[in-house]
Amino acid sequence: MFQKIKGTQDFLDLSLWQFITKTSAEYLNLHNFNQIKLPAIESVDLFKRSVGLETDIVNKEMFVVEQRTGSSEQICLKPEATASTMRAFLENGIQNLPWKVFSFDTLFRYERPQKGRYREFNQCNIETIGTESISQDVALISMLDGLFSTKLKINNYALVLNFLGCQNDRLNFREVLTNFLQASPNICETCQKRSTTNPLRIFDCKSESCQSIYQNAPKIINHLCESCGQEWQQLQNHLELLGVSFAIKPELVRGLDYYNKTVFEFTSSHLGSQSSFCGGGRYELATQLGSKTAVPAIGAAFGIERILLILEQIQDKLLLSQKPALTVVIPLNPEQNILALLVAQNLAQHNLAHDIILDDTSSVKSKMRKANKLGPIYCVLIGQQEQESNSVTLKNMVTSEEQLIKQIDLVSTLKNH
Ligand code: HAM
Repeated sequence: MFQKIKGTQDFLDLSLWQFITKTSAEYLNLHNFNQIKLPAIESVDLFKRSVGLETDIVNKEMFVVEQRTGSSEQICLKPEATASTMRAFLENGIQNLPWKVFSFDTLFRYERPQKGRYREFNQCNIETIGTESISQDVALISMLDGLFSTKLKINNYALVLNFLGCQNDRLNFREVLTNFLQASPNICETCQKRSTTNPLRIFDCKSESCQSIYQNAPKIINHLCESCGQEWQQLQNHLELLGVSFAIKPELVRGLDYYNKTVFEFTSSHLGSQSSFCGGGRYELATQLGSKTAVPAIGAAFGIERILLILEQIQDKLLLSQKPALTVVIPLNPEQNILALLVAQNLAQHNLAHDIILDDTSSVKSKMRKANKLGPIYCVLIGQQEQESNSVTLKNMVTSEEQLIKQIDLVSTLKNH
C-alpha cells in the first residue's frame, strides 16, 4: 500500500474548504480584486532575488525540481505567491495601476510538519500592486478584518502590526541593533550568525533566552525617519477610525526579506504554536526583479488549512451551502438499466441531483439498501411492469409512500415537492 508523502494531506470532504474559497472570492470581487491563476513552477532565482537568500524558505525549504539534462535554469515548486504575482505583473506589462489581484495557490515548503504546518499547503494570496499610499495598507488590512470577522465568522483572533520603515531606516537601525547584539554575548549561535548577515531576523528566534534578551532590544518603530513616522501614525489612526482593533508588536519582522514599512499578521489562539493564519505587508520587488522603475505594493496571504482548523471548531454555526435533494434511480433488473439511464439523463437535463444504482448482481433488497445509504429524498423504481406501462414508482424515503406515475410526469412531480 502506498501512503501519502510526509507533510501532505488528503481532503475527503470539501464543504468547509469550498465555503472558505467561495466566500473569499466573492468578497474580494466585491472589493474589485480580480482572480488570476499562476504557474505551479517558477525559476529558483525568482525566489532567491525576492524572498531572500538568508530566509529559511529559500535557504532550507525549496522543492527544487530535477530538470531534464541540457537545461541550465533551476526550477522549483512555488513556496509563495507574491514573487510570482510580481513576475506576472512585470512580464505582462500591466499598465493600469493599482493592479488588484488574488489567486489560490498550492505551495510547497520543506518544513518540519506539525499541526497547521505542512510541506504542501494552500493560500489565498492578495496583492495591490503599484500604489504608494499608506491608505491602501489601511484598506487591505480593514478588508481582511471584515472578511475574517463578518464573512468567515472567525472569532477570537488578533491583528498584530509593526512598521519596518524605509530602506534608509533599516540601514540605520541595523547599526543600532548590531551594537546592541555585540553587547549581548549570550545569544544563540544562529542569532550570532544573523547579527552579521540579517540582524532584523534575530527577532524570529525561537529560543526563550534570546527572546528575553530581545525584550530590551531597540525597536525599529522608535528609529523611523520623519515621513515613515507620519505614515506609521496615519496607519494606526485610520485603522482605529475604521474600528479595526490591533496590537503593536515591535519584534514582528516576518520570515520573508522583501518587506518594508507595514507588516502585519492575524493570529488565532485556536491554532497552537502555528498561530498566524494570515500575514502580509508592504514591499517593493520590481527593481529586485529587473525593472528600471520601482513599483510599491502591499499584499497578504491567508492559509486555507489554518482557517479550516479554526472553522472546524465552529462548523455548526456556519451557513454552509446545503447539498441539493438527491433522487436515486433504481432499475430492478439489468433489462431496465437503459431505461434508468434515460430517466437519469432527463433528471440531469433539468438540474435535478441524482444517482443511479447500476449493480447487476444484487437483489432488489440490497439495491434498496445501497440507495438508502446515499440519503435520498426520493427513489425512482423501474421494474418490468413500470417499463411496460411507461411509468415509474416514486418512493418517498421519508414516509415510505409509493406512487405510480407516468415517466413524462417525473420531473414536474420532483420539482413540485
Ligand atoms: P507567509 O506568512 O509565509 O506569507 O504565509 C502566509 C500564510 O500562509 C500563513 O499565515 C499561514 O496561514 C500559511 N502558511 C505558511 N506556511 C505554511 C505551511 N507550511 N503550512 C500551512 N500553512 C502555511 C507569504 O507567503 C507572503 N507571500 C504573504 C504576502 C503576500 N505578503 C505580501 N503579499
